[in-house]
Amino acid sequence: MSRLMNLIPDIKTVVQIALLALAIPAASSFAASANLEAGKKLAQPCQACHGADGNATQPIYPKLAGQYADYLARALTEYRDGNRVNPIMAAFVEKLSDQDIKDLAAYYSAMPGQLDDLDGRMKPE
Ligand code: HEC
Repeated sequence: MSRLMNLIPDIKTVVQIALLALAIPAASSFAASANLEAGKKLAQPCQACHGADGNATQPIYPKLAGQYADYLARALTEYRDGNRVNPIMAAFVEKLSDQDIKDLAAYYSAMPGQLDDLDGRMKPE
């Protein structure tokens, strides 16, 4: 029985490692399928409002640099599909493919940002 008890922490460790192994590809798959160079090209028309470095200086334009990529991709998809309505943004996203959106989101997300995370701390660069 005591041998069995000794095994229990090991089973827990095995389960933790298995869960970690499942989580890592899920977390990195977004970046893996995005092309930062393509994102940079697509971002040229965005700079006028969102800033050359993604940190807009005018408060009416959101800062995009360092924002979570999945948040950016979601916002862009919603503008494109009419689920988030903004006449300015609609004009800039209507022709974007899903891959374009991924590339743009990855590009802005990778830029050094000035945004706080949900705990009010600056996201590490
Ligand atoms: C003419 C100015 C202008 C241009 C050019 C522009 N945007 Fe925007 N963008 C805005 C404004 C204004 C908002 C805020 C709209 C709102 O309140 O929903 C916005 C919002 C966004 C958001 C949502 C941000 C958030 O925090 O929710 C994203 C993402 C975004 N823009 C990406 C882009 C990308 C990528 C491009 C280029 C393809 C682009 N924008 C071009 C003005 C612009």
